[in-house]
Amino acid sequence: MAVLPVPDPPLTDGVVALRLWQASDIEQRLAGYADPEFQRFSLSTSEPVTAARLRQQADQEEREWERGEKLSLAIVDATDPSQVWGGCSVYDIDLEQQRAGVGYWLVPQARGRGAASRTVRLLAYWAFDVLGIARLELTCAPDNIASQRVAVRSGFFLEGIMRSYMRFQGGRRDTMLFSLLPEDLHEADRPRTE
Ligand SMILES: CC(C)(COP(=O)(O)OP(=O)(O)OC[C@H]1O[C@@H](n2cnc3c(N)ncnc32)[C@H](O)[C@@H]1OP(=O)(O)O)[C@@H](O)C(=O)NCCC(=O)NCCS
Repeated sequence: MAVLPVPDPPLTDGVVALRLWQASDIEQRLAGYADPEFQRFSLSTSEPVTAARLRQQADQEEREWERGEKLSLAIVDATDPSQVWGGCSVYDIDLEQQRAGVGYWLVPQARGRGAASRTVRLLAYWAFDVLGIARLELTCAPDNIASQRVAVRSGFFLEGIMRSYMRFQGGRRDTMLFSLLPEDLHEADRPRTE
């Protein structure tokens, strides 16, 4: 597929909405990247994140989307879509193998209320229903307990630890691998606008 579809209207369950990033989000996105938990778990390089670097990243995300590899979206308050709660993506999309990964982060103020699980649920149904994905993967650091809880709460199964899986902040890091198949979800869990 050349260009991935963008969920239109944005995916929402009435609490969170997932929409394309906008140029006006840059300050909120920078604030999210400045959070120590984000830097500990989600920032693979040790280079400082600047507005210029974020703009480069936005350009790169647009190219990844055009190549059909990755869709990056902002997680926003469904009742006020100018309020950015975090970011998420469906990445490593392989339509031939019907496989993809899902990733997410939240600003500190948006944590602790299930927003990441809601996001994963919306993305999972979209990836299964619209992209025809048959296996969705979720990976995180072995010490990222909150993210592992999100995975389990979203219905993912732990498959194991991939040792020395990735380059991370100047070294290498193990990664937990979780997966979700369409049959792991129940019709009653399908997101609805509440
Ligand atoms: C991972 C993240 C998105 C989860 O946010 P969230 O949806 O608000 O998750 P919560 O704060 O509700 O926590 C989820 C669960 O983990 C538990 N938890 C949170 N922090 C914890 C910690 N430090 N130690 C143990 N458990 C923890 C919570 O109690 C909750 O448990 P429950 O499912 O039994 O209720 C958020 O913590 C985050 O943005 N972290 C930084 C970036 C990141 O790690 N992204 C994921 C990369 S794989």
